[in-house]
Amino acid sequence: PQNPPLAGEDLSDGTSVLIETAFAKVNLALHVRRRREDGYHAIESLFAFVDDGDVLRAERRDDGALTLKIDGPFAAGLDDGPSNLVLRAALELAHCVCPSTSLGNSEGGSQDPLPHWGASLYLTKNLPVASGIGGGSADAAAALRLLNRLWDCRLDDSALCVIAESLGSDIPACVISRTLRVEGRGEALQPLELAGLSSAPILLVNPGVPLGTAPVFKGWDQYDRGALDSSSLRAIITEGRNDLEPSARVLMPEIGAVLDVLAIQSGVELARMSGSGATCFALFETTAAAEAAQRAIARAYPDWWTMCGSLR
Ligand code: C5P
Repeated sequence: PQNPPLAGEDLSDGTSVLIETAFAKVNLALHVRRRREDGYHAIESLFAFVDDGDVLRAERRDDGALTLKIDGPFAAGLDDGPSNLVLRAALELAHCVCPSTSLGNSEGGSQDPLPHWGASLYLTKNLPVASGIGGGSADAAAALRLLNRLWDCRLDDSALCVIAESLGSDIPACVISRTLRVEGRGEALQPLELAGLSSAPILLVNPGVPLGTAPVFKGWDQYDRGALDSSSLRAIITEGRNDLEPSARVLMPEIGAVLDVLAIQSGVELARMSGSGATCFALFETTAAAEAAQRAIARAYPDWWTMCGSLR
């Protein structure tokens, strides 16, 4: 069945482009409880999202082809072919909504070529890759949200999260992109409103070297240090941990340097590593304090990547 006409945001040049931000993710705490039979780890984490990130744009195409172009400060070396999570997410969505879809191939291949499933995607990569703040996961989640609109699939968040789960552990949380308590391997989501968190000023700092997720989990010492109390921001700050930090620091000692520098900035409420690293973050009392810290760090460590913002 053909879907109804697309609802687009019409631009002055007559084309119709939809835009989604792929919000940067931070793990305010990340407790690793055990290694599971399937090789993944059971986690308890508080995910929060910065009101900034990569930007994904989509334009409908009538020839049924699916293409991706990448620009921005971290575009270099990124694969824009079918292995890119954005294109994999697009394919999964199309197959889920219409199992007979032959996507990305304008020559057809299915008995019923559906021009409806084409799109030109443009990703502006502002976030460092393999850095513990979502990155590819946020891009894939943004693709699901964006194409759900462009193709008028009308899937709700929970249906998008089911597709997301098959693509990567952090992608369901990135679909929601609001403060969440996250369990399982990343798929069990519980929305949370914690006093003091909404609009909290945050500074992200990355030492400028990528770090893969799998080796960091592999280096976890398999010692369960206990459950995550996510009842208050105070509990997250005083009792919360990132259990992947020791393992990540062994693989990349620069993380220790970043955390040391963040901890001594004035107005810092919490300094911790995000995800499997190497990006670390600090929550600040005021935006002015966060911006002052960003300026000081950028001056002293010009090779480090920094991003100042506020939590969504
Ligand atoms: O799910 P995703 O492909 O993003 O995970 C990348 C790798 O991180 C996995 O292959 C696994 O080694 C590790 N991982 C894990 N436990 C999780 C999430 C990820 O061990 N909960």
